[in-house]
Amino acid sequence: MTTPAAPPRTSATGAPHTRREGRVKVTGEARYAGDIPFAELAHGWLVTSTVARGRIRSIDEDAVLALPGVLAVLHHGNALRLTPGAGFMGPDANLQVLQDDRVPHVGWPVALVVAETQEQARAGADALVITYDEEPHDTAFRADHPGLRATAPSPLAMPDVDQGDPDAELAASAVVVDGEYTTPEEFHNAMEPHASMARWENGRLEVVDSNQGSYAVAQVLATLFSLDVDTVRVRSEHVGGGFGSKGLRLPHTVLAVMATTVLHRPVRVLLTRRQMFSLVGFRPATAQRVRLGADGDGRLRVIEHETASATSTVHEYAEQSTRHSRILYAADAFRLRTRVVPLDMPTPAFMRAPGWAPGSFAVESAMDELAAEAGLDPIALRLRNEPEVGPVSGLPFSSRNLVACLEEGARRFGWADRDPRPGVRRDGRWLLGTGVASSAHSAGVGPSTAAITAEADGTFTVRVTAADIGTGARTALSQIAADALETPPESVRIQIADSDFGPAWLAGGSMGTASWAWAISEAAIALRKKLADVVDVPPEGITADADTTELLGAREQRESHGYGAQFAEVAVDPLSGEVRVRRMLGIFAVGRVVNPLTARSQLVGGMTWGLSMALHEEGARDDVSGGLANGDLAGYHVAAHADVPAIEADWVEDHDTYNPSGIKGLGEIGIVGGAAAIANAVWHATGVRHRHLPISLDRVL
Ligand code: MOS
Repeated sequence: MTTPAAPPRTSATGAPHTRREGRVKVTGEARYAGDIPFAELAHGWLVTSTVARGRIRSIDEDAVLALPGVLAVLHHGNALRLTPGAGFMGPDANLQVLQDDRVPHVGWPVALVVAETQEQARAGADALVITYDEEPHDTAFRADHPGLRATAPSPLAMPDVDQGDPDAELAASAVVVDGEYTTPEEFHNAMEPHASMARWENGRLEVVDSNQGSYAVAQVLATLFSLDVDTVRVRSEHVGGGFGSKGLRLPHTVLAVMATTVLHRPVRVLLTRRQMFSLVGFRPATAQRVRLGADGDGRLRVIEHETASATSTVHEYAEQSTRHSRILYAADAFRLRTRVVPLDMPTPAFMRAPGWAPGSFAVESAMDELAAEAGLDPIALRLRNEPEVGPVSGLPFSSRNLVACLEEGARRFGWADRDPRPGVRRDGRWLLGTGVASSAHSAGVGPSTAAITAEADGTFTVRVTAADIGTGARTALSQIAADALETPPESVRIQIADSDFGPAWLAGGSMGTASWAWAISEAAIALRKKLADVVDVPPEGITADADTTELLGAREQRESHGYGAQFAEVAVDPLSGEVRVRRMLGIFAVGRVVNPLTARSQLVGGMTWGLSMALHEEGARDDVSGGLANGDLAGYHVAAHADVPAIEADWVEDHDTYNPSGIKGLGEIGIVGGAAAIANAVWHATGVRHRHLPISLDRVL
């Protein structure tokens, strides 16, 4: 009566695999875009504006052209004209480099000096005298700024929400929390600064770059320079981090292309660490008002979340902080607003878990305040408000498992013994406290293509324009391909980061692996069909490809997210104000985990950034000059090893087939909720509530 079990097949996915490029990275053999030699390479050095607003009056290029090795000075008076309208999901005027004399912020590109050596280019840039007609500027962000306005309709803007009767629900609530939360300007600091080399080869534009998506960069360059996308080839070898800063803002890439077009030789432009603070996007300051109203038993009647963030005068970027309040908890009424204030500062951009990271700080702090007000355990409060369907959309969840994360986390962290009273635990001079917060991040999939070749020797070659920005994407994709082809991963060669492989989603939005995996799996199905009739594979191999665009379009709508619960224990020295995080635990529901080794690294990396956001990171904008007072790694603090305790990340079973790969993506969720868990723990330690980040020494008590 029992059917014989199928023979066990070892699955490559789900098992830990060390990185394919691990050896070349630790031995220093791995080449990054700034290291790769090219014959006849010339070097460009960017000159950026020193004033916050105005017009360029003069550029004294003759003196610089006379310097040794200097080949050209590009500026708005002589630069190639670019086609307007290029951008990622809509036109981005930041890409229109050197097109006019307007200066919209400190650090705006105003010239490129090209020379034989990098040192000569830098010396030329330092010597270039530029005068400006300055105009008054405003970089002071505040939620009651007269320029505050609703976001322009854009594919990326979250519409306002008015559901139910928030005012009536607030009036009827037994417990109300009403708080203003702020987060400061925060900056991307990928280990590898941006770099692009451009050259013309056999009638094609070739760019060797550090980016999160070579096809997206090729598309943008094709539009800007009025080229057919097939005549542009963009590729990377290794990429040392991106986090949203590599591929959408690329003034250095645009200038490298301009320079090579004018000079007829390869040109490379690197960004300095300081230039990264104004040219590649950042997380804007936010001011968020959260009002929660609940019955005495903690059931939420209303969630109000109004968020304002700074943007530039060049291009609108809105930090979508209400993403978190749209999905986490059920309530009878919602009022959600997203507002922006255009200021004379660089345009912000996506930065790891855009919207989710600052939004979760406000909402998860407010939930902790509500629990304290209502005399409820913070986890019990969250469980009480678990929704059946998307709280705002009414759409079914593709899967959820937030409850499992909270319960499993509570068990492993030792939450059950917690004394809810704040400010009563001591360890010598330290006050101790624990805190919790929920995490979530959208689990999207974008259209991608992939191709697989069955080689005559029995191995397979996979080509997909994926990017491995340090995540281990190469390794994970080889595991996925191996399972789809029913072959060991050692038989799979994986080629990525080359726009010639065709369109693919970028390493962004926590969508990369899921998007590429789907295309690879479809290509594997097509290839296996082709191979079924083949006796001998010819020397050139047999290739099949796939494009998931139509498959994606055919899906029903779902609320598809990863979830998590983060726990933190802190010690606070009431004399010095020092906050030490003693331990963090994150339990996540992130679909199928392809490679536990690299997945854990991603989650721990995100949680480390959450700690850094809670305690350290803060751009200090000087409103007199309009620039940053701490725009480098000497002044802008990120968590160092000594700040980071043992961080533990793990996951619960989370079966989800909304995309057939079952992968949800986990590059960003690790940062979501971390800052709130720490702020809530600081309250539990000290009895002092922190609604403004970072919780630096001077602000603790
Ligand atoms: Mo990420 S902010 O989607 O690179």
